This record gives sequence, structure tokens and C-alpha cells, in this order.
Amino acid sequence: MFKKIVKRIELWYSNRNWASKRKYLIKKGAVIGEGTRLNCKVQAFGTEPYLITCGNDCLFAGGVSFITHDGGIKVLNTLNKFNGRRMSKLAQIKIGNNVYIGQNAMIMPGVEIGDNVVIGAGAIVTHNIPDNVVAVGIPATVKKSIDEYYEATVNKKLFCFEGHSAEEKERILTEAKKKGVI
Ligand SMILES: CC(C)(COP(=O)(O)OP(=O)(O)OC[C@H]1O[C@@H](n2cnc3c(N)ncnc32)[C@H](O)[C@@H]1OP(=O)(O)O)[C@@H](O)C(=O)NCCC(=O)NCCS
Repeated sequence: MFKKIVKRIELWYSNRNWASKRKYLIKKGAVIGEGTRLNCKVQAFGTEPYLITCGNDCLFAGGVSFITHDGGIKVLNTLNKFNGRRMSKLAQIKIGNNVYIGQNAMIMPGVEIGDNVVIGAGAIVTHNIPDNVVAVGIPATVKKSIDEYYEATVNKKLFCFEGHSAEEKERILTEAKKKGVI
């Protein structure tokens, strides 16, 4: 009971901000590059964070999860398929540099994601994803190149909030909403 309370406090403390999340996960053996920011909780890295490698300048949205083990092997264990031994099935996950992973996406065991990649919201990534692409869906497949994503994005209504406070951002967006431009 005492251990559980200590663990809960440790997790709450670690989830305060980007720096505290990164520090906690590195302490747990994950490799997390410079400038990588986690909007998901540290729990997203599961029970084997030391099997996860992330490059620099990545951003992971809320609800993202990294799965490094296949709990399904429990069924084979119960069927005694391994001569009385309970086996585990694990694989590492490798994420490149400058990767964005959208809300609630799931990265499955053994997956490698290249550099300059966008993973769409809700994707389940079961196979490797190459450099410079946008991948979406279940299972995730390449939807377009990063250059095509740029072409599609540059003509959309974009905003720059650099140097703005949260209040200024809210004012700008509320105004845009009133004008019907967003
Ligand atoms: C993947 C993503 C970057 C694509 O952006 P985009 O290129 O501007 O997307 P578009 O709206 O032009 O859609 C392009 C196609 O991809 C599909 N698509 C877009 N996002 C998708 C997603 N998350 N899952 C499945 N399909 C998706 C669209 O339906 C469309 O399909 P079509 O060509 O058959 O019509 C974006 O949709 C996304 O998921 N961003 C992450 C959002 C997020 O998680 N935000 C969290 C807060 S930070």
C-alpha cells in the first residue's frame, strides 16, 4: 500500500512538465533526444521504457502509447505451449528525429519510425515508417510525403503565436472565429 502511494506521487511529480517527464523517462532507461516534448504522460512508455529510443525535436500528443510487449502470449502460456515455462514476447521501438505523433496514436512492438514523420491522430503503427512521410490509419500506412503535406498546408489558414501569451492567442482565435476565417 505504502509503495503504491509512493509510486503515485512519483508519477504525479514526473508528469508536471516536459522537462520532468523527460528526466524521469531517461532515469528509467529510455533514450529521449534533446528538445523532445511529451504531451502524453510518462505512463505512455509502458512497463519497459528502456526499450524505447526517441530522437531529437519530437512531439508526442496526449494519449499516445508505446507498446513494447505482446501480452497475447499469456494465452499460449496458459495452454502450456512452452513446456511449462511462461514466456514473454518483447521488441524495442525506435523513433527518429523531428517526429510528431498525433493524439491517441499507438506504436506497436518492433516498430521503427524514420526522421521528419507525422503520425496521424488515432493511428496504430504496426510496421516501420520511412523518413519524410505522413502516415495515418489502422494499421498506419503512408498517406503522403512531407513535401505534399507542406503543399497542402501552406494554402490553409495558418497562425503564428510566437511571442504571444495564452490570452493573446485566445483573443486572436476568438476574433478569427467571429469573422468565420477559422
Ligand atoms: C495526419 C494529419 C497531419 C494530416 O493532415 P492533412 O494532410 O492536413 O490532412 P487532410 O485533412 O488534408 O487529410 C488528408 C487525407 O488523410 C485523411 N486523414 C487525415 N487525418 C487522418 C487520421 N488521423 N487518420 C486517418 N485518416 C486521416 C483524410 O481523411 C484525407 O483522406 P482522403 O485523401 O481520402 O480524403 C492530421 O489529420 C492529423 O491527424 N494531425 C494530428 C492532429 C492531432 O493529433 N492533434 C493533437 C493536438 S496537438
